[in-house]
Amino acid sequence: MSFQIPRGTQDILPGEVEKWQYIEQLARDLCRRYNYQEIRTPMFEHTELFLRGVGDTTDIVQKEMYTFEDRGGRSITLRPEGTAAVVRSFVEHKMYGQPNQPVKLYYIGPMFRYERPQAGRFRQFVQFGVEALGSNDPAIDAEVIALAMDLYQSLGLKKLKLVINSLGDVESRKAHRQALIDHFKERIGEFCADCQTRLEKNPMRILDCKKDRDHELMATAPSILDYLNESSRTYFAKVQTYLTKLGISFEVDPRLVRGLDYYNHTAFEIMSEAEGFGAITTLCGGGRYNGLVQEIGGPETPGIGFALSIERLLAALQAEGISLPLETTLGCYVVSLGEKAKEEVTVLVHALRQAGIAAEKDYQDRKVKAQLKAADRLNAQYVAILGDDELEKQVINVKNMQTGEQTEVSLASFVEYVKQALV
Ligand code: HAM
Repeated sequence: MSFQIPRGTQDILPGEVEKWQYIEQLARDLCRRYNYQEIRTPMFEHTELFLRGVGDTTDIVQKEMYTFEDRGGRSITLRPEGTAAVVRSFVEHKMYGQPNQPVKLYYIGPMFRYERPQAGRFRQFVQFGVEALGSNDPAIDAEVIALAMDLYQSLGLKKLKLVINSLGDVESRKAHRQALIDHFKERIGEFCADCQTRLEKNPMRILDCKKDRDHELMATAPSILDYLNESSRTYFAKVQTYLTKLGISFEVDPRLVRGLDYYNHTAFEIMSEAEGFGAITTLCGGGRYNGLVQEIGGPETPGIGFALSIERLLAALQAEGISLPLETTLGCYVVSLGEKAKEEVTVLVHALRQAGIAAEKDYQDRKVKAQLKAADRLNAQYVAILGDDELEKQVINVKNMQTGEQTEVSLASFVEYVKQALV
């Protein structure tokens, strides 16, 4: 019997995993600079949280959740996204009471959606996301967008498009909702079954329907931007002013509605425009969710954030032909020649490692030549060779692999020598 990995998931093997580590490290460093702190929430939550948070008319909730009953009879769901859980935690730990507001958080971790696997679409994928809770300042909308753009740009990506929209406040949304119902209701029979239920429950979701995308009524549907009230319009204008001041170019697309229910005001996506990137071009999505904290049981608190997957980021790098400056070197490989030397090398390698140096030796009983080859494959910066003769004299030969220079050092000073040499 042989086993295969579940569809839509992937093993990230050595050779590839270094890219992930590099990107994750960069994301952490960016968050440090923008003053966002890490939060880690569980991989699963009570199902109810996502019904409430993400919204029961969304594709995520209706079709894509990994939901099961645990042994205690509770309905549990593997998290399909991070925002609802972060807000749950924010409320549960009363972070709204902390002196430092807004509370600025970030997370990196796997999310799970039962989607049709294809290029850029996985059933388990890793999201890096940030959430800023507690501020209604349009400057923070711009900051969140700037952070996402900063990550992509510092990796060297150039073919990016930032698209923004405003979904307005509750009042604007209400007016737009009615306009959408009026627009679609006569001919709703021509739409898919999902859209027919969306008409009354959440007509804006119709605009995001993958099946009815090409229906003629889509192109003529009322634009949210025409229904924004004064304060929503002012807010959106301010966000745009800030983006411009930060030198971030963008396009306004009134059709951008996002696939989750919690959004209002600013919504945005970052797309890859690289040739051959594939059908799914969205790299990152986010927006403002001013009603969500209340929906989850907390006090009225504004919030904004984004999430992006590392999988799509890697695909964008590949499409633009960018390779990451990965360092995979070993400090020192210690070769042994002879039985006694072999024992001593085990001790020396251990001592190197304890001194903080990445070190390796042979465990396959290989001849010297094969050991040297192994050192080469591992990109060793120094190779030390210990034979029984050297052991007798309590010395060891150390070779700098870059210059070819060889030095004989005493065994007693070996670790210190390598340590100094590597600085
Ligand atoms: P989302 O648009 O559902 O938003 O997902 C955000 C990002 O996650 C996408 O732009 C994409 O990079 C990645 N993603 C989503 N599904 C998949 C998949 N099946 N395979 C690979 N990557 C995927 C959210 O999740 C919101 N929580 C974002 C947010 C945070 N809004 C406010 N704060």
